[in-house]
Amino acid sequence: MKNLVVLTGAGMSAESGISTFRDAGGLWDKYPVEQVATPEGYAANPKLVIDFYNERRKQLLTVKPNRGHELLARLEDHFRVTVITQNVDNLHERAGSTCVIHLHGELTKVTSSRQPGNPAYIRELEPEEYEVCMGDLAEDGSQLRPFIVWFGESVPMIETAIDYVEKADIFLIIGTSLNVYPAAGLLNYVPVGVPVYLIDPNQVSVASGRSVHVIRKGASEGVEEFMRLLHSIPVF
Ligand code: OAD
Repeated sequence: MKNLVVLTGAGMSAESGISTFRDAGGLWDKYPVEQVATPEGYAANPKLVIDFYNERRKQLLTVKPNRGHELLARLEDHFRVTVITQNVDNLHERAGSTCVIHLHGELTKVTSSRQPGNPAYIRELEPEEYEVCMGDLAEDGSQLRPFIVWFGESVPMIETAIDYVEKADIFLIIGTSLNVYPAAGLLNYVPVGVPVYLIDPNQVSVASGRSVHVIRKGASEGVEEFMRLLHSIPVF
């Protein structure tokens, strides 16, 4: 089986009803990124940040994977599929994808404020625990914080992601403005000669000089089109 490596961003989940970040009316228009997605913002007002992620977490209970997520999961019948996602939702997993690498953390998990990257303190929440309160503590006695990689923090999963990208036979990008590094730099690790596809309804500027097959559609229709382009694979 060939290796299909997929890099997804907020546009992947847009058709499920989750806002993107940088489109007009996106999340960063409504909530200043430096307040809710940086360690400094968290230090200044932890309650604001905890509430922001409580809201995102509660939204998970009301949304479902879209056809794009489902088709990516079905592609596992034909390819060894690795999904590298910048998204913190769990829609790839819920659609049935079995190899999902979360670069920016996961909404359904919490960790210690003191040592956020320490696996000993990272814990999956049950849905009834989705509302984290000030005073809820991690195992080390510090305030529970969202398991989200904020701006200015290191991205520990990037090395794992690079290992997969270097073995890609096909590379597919879906719904990301490619503004945020190191995720956007993954394209540079795609071996020479490996075809690169990009699905996005809007124009995305790709920094690397390589040729990219652009499918200018939303995620669901775009993945269908991608599958049609791969000829041998039936579109379900
Ligand atoms: P952006 O909001 O920057 O980009 C979303 C992309 O999705 C844009 O290129 C849109 O054109 C595209 N899009 C919109 N609707 C779509 C649809 N129906 N189907 C497919 N694509 C669609 O989001 P990201 O690139 O994911 O990090 O942002 C990267 C990171 O920046 C996020 O992970 C987040 C953010 O700050 C953190 O919170 C740490």
